[in-house]
Amino acid sequence: AIERTLSIVKPDAVGKNAIGAIYDRFEKAGLRIVAARMMHLTRAQAEGFYAVHKGRPFFNDLVAFMSSGPVMIQVLEGENAVAKNREVMGATNPKAAAAGTIRADFAASIDENAVHGSDGPDTARAEISYFFADTDICPRTR
Ligand code: CMP
Repeated sequence: AIERTLSIVKPDAVGKNAIGAIYDRFEKAGLRIVAARMMHLTRAQAEGFYAVHKGRPFFNDLVAFMSSGPVMIQVLEGENAVAKNREVMGATNPKAAAAGTIRADFAASIDENAVHGSDGPDTARAEISYFFADTDICPRTR
């Protein structure tokens, strides 16, 4: 089925000037960018986005990192988009990420791992609505 998922190019990858290279991976995989916005998240915005991880040992570092510089946030649409994006990203820990995945090629560590992607369809809906209104999304007309 056609799905939508939320994707974030994280501050490390934005800092490496790799937004375009990462967008190319999405597009080559058949994922269409149907909304996008650049933001420098506040700590509070990063905490809210990652609220499910509150209490995990990595939470403070995660929030500090995600608010350390600009991020590029996008909605990706396509057949099986949630799983497809996770496949293109590779494993959370770049040391475990398959060759040719975004994290294998752009991520330095599990903390600075280049991209975020929703982990399931319900999470995707919640994460998309955290950053985008329905009217921000621009389905393709050709
Ligand atoms: P992300 O998909 O953005 O979701 C939460 C992030 O926390 C994750 O990617 C990692 O960058 C970071 N993180 C750091 N340590 C861990 C861990 N042990 N397990 C999961 N995520 C971690």
